[in-house]
Amino acid sequence: MNSDIAMNSKTINCRINGANYQLNVSPAMPLSDVLRAQGFLSIKQGCCVGECGACTVLVDGTAIDSCLYLAVWAHGKTIRTSEGESLHGKPSAIQQAFAESGAVQCGFCTPGFIMATSALLAKPRSQPMTVLQIRQGLAGNLCRCTGYQMIVDAVRKCDAGSSH
Ligand code: FES
Ligand code: FES
Repeated sequence: MNSDIAMNSKTINCRINGANYQLNVSPAMPLSDVLRAQGFLSIKQGCCVGECGACTVLVDGTAIDSCLYLAVWAHGKTIRTSEGESLHGKPSAIQQAFAESGAVQCGFCTPGFIMATSALLAKPRSQPMTVLQIRQGLAGNLCRCTGYQMIVDAVRKCDAGSSH
């Protein structure tokens, strides 16, 4: 079995949080497994079927469920995880807003929400998002603890502070 995997493995080159990686991956391996094996443990594996968003990362700026994204598809791509959001150990504005708004409780969903929020805030818009737009924009991410309002508050705080 292991020799089958080794025989079928593919080499991919990608950038993760600003660094170049060359990785051997099996064709059926999800990106979430590969990233966690490289130490990016912010990526949580909640449902592993694309329902909860706990495994959300950015691939070329687009938020994706890394449990459903094959690692081989990441060849030539740029990946960002929640670890890449913080600069020199300092939390990003989004991470800070989540912490200050009480949007982090058990924390299991938080890295996925941070990445989904990062993609949402990067979209061009002429005015701050409404609560409905934020809720719709983060609809792919589930949280069992916060009731979502504190997450919406955190996103609004970041949205108000960004240029439109
Ligand atoms: S673990 Fe990927 S969507 Fe739930
Ligand atoms: S903070 Fe616990 S699941 Fe969201």
